[in-house]
Amino acid sequence: MGPSDFLRSIHFDVASACNEHCVHCYIPDECKTKTIETNLILRILEEARRLNAIHVTFSGGEPLLHKDFNDFLKRCRELDLSVNVLSNLTMLTDDHISEMVKNPLLSVQTSLYSMDPLAHDSITGLVGSFNKTVDGILRLIEAGIPVQISCPVMKQNKDSFIDVVVWAREHNVAVAVEPVIFASCDHSGGNLDNRISLDELDAVLDKEMSEGFARVIKEAASEKELLTGKDPVCSVCRYSLCVSVEGNVFPCAGWQSNVIGNLNASTLKEVWEDSEKIRWLRGIKRDSFSKCVSCENRGYCTVCMMANANENPDGNPFFIDDFHCKVASKTRRKVLDFLEIKQEAESDSQSAVKEVGTSDATGQMGATQAWKS
Ligand SMILES: C[S@@+](CC[C@H](N)C(=O)[O-])C[C@H]1O[C@@H](n2cnc3c(N)ncnc32)[C@H](O)[C@@H]1O
Ligand code: SF4
Ligand code: SF4
Repeated sequence: MGPSDFLRSIHFDVASACNEHCVHCYIPDECKTKTIETNLILRILEEARRLNAIHVTFSGGEPLLHKDFNDFLKRCRELDLSVNVLSNLTMLTDDHISEMVKNPLLSVQTSLYSMDPLAHDSITGLVGSFNKTVDGILRLIEAGIPVQISCPVMKQNKDSFIDVVVWAREHNVAVAVEPVIFASCDHSGGNLDNRISLDELDAVLDKEMSEGFARVIKEAASEKELLTGKDPVCSVCRYSLCVSVEGNVFPCAGWQSNVIGNLNASTLKEVWEDSEKIRWLRGIKRDSFSKCVSCENRGYCTVCMMANANENPDGNPFFIDDFHCKVASKTRRKVLDFLEIKQEAESDSQSAVKEVGTSDATGQMGATQAWKS
């Protein structure tokens, strides 16, 4: 363990159960059956705090389904933990809001797929979910609780996701658009029929494209391009881990199939410090992905072991699906072309201004000369 590898953050799947049945969800419906045991989560919160963890994510499934959810929020507040709740908000009660508002370190992330109620509900499989989620967002805003929208794009909302971005902007809410969904955690590829094609990605990127968007992506890419083969792939098991409803520990959200310990049988400290699998994951560097180290698209790509593992039936985290490479290549091309065209247009208009300036001066001179003569 390096000196900076201490547990900062812990993610709980509070409930695998969910009241929605989203077509793209990385958790297959047949796994959505349980909620976590109250005493287990309370015990792990104490242990996490003793290990100096500072942040907790409550997700699922749908965490608000848990009957003791407010007790978890309250305990986090008492332990001075910052909290991020990932919820569809369809079951948000005034009691939840009253407890949430007491923790100044609490924020909420919710999922809104379209401003067309039918399109949103066709993704969640729950009639009326659009109205409830939007209502939940507005109540959180009203209560002064920071809220962010997550908007994965798929076939069902590829034409209307952009309205969510506009709506969010109008309400001063941050929105994260994820153009490509990742494969389900059972490696079955059962949700991939909903993933957009590369041609559809073209149109999605065009809708999203603006100077601000292109510059942010390019700056992030420039930083990523500086990474070397000796750098870690990601923060997995270096700062954070996840806990399932059964108390199983897994490396990151979406990688439920990679069990690296169980907290019914061990303490958090034991798993964090002694698990062979955690040590192994912590040691993986970028040079384990030799194809990626000097790839020209690496700045526009998230090399992600979870996404790789879920994409193939063997769950091999080193397997790189060609589709992801094509997405990175397309994103790079789109961003660079956009900025190049923008720059050309700007330098054209600057030369036009100069020419106008010159011809003005010449015109003026001509007039002066004409007057003199
Ligand atoms: C798994 S949900 C759990 C929290 C809550 N039920 C919700 O929907 O907000 C967390 C986020 O993951 C997103 N998500 C689910 N499946 C995904 C996938 N295959 N690819 C990308 N994001 C996905 C959801 O849209 C949601 O924004
Ligand atoms: S994305 Fe969230 S709300 Fe939708 S099925 Fe998955 S866990 Fe439930
Ligand atoms: S585009 Fe492909 S080869 Fe390049 S960094 Fe990404 S995963 Fe690696």
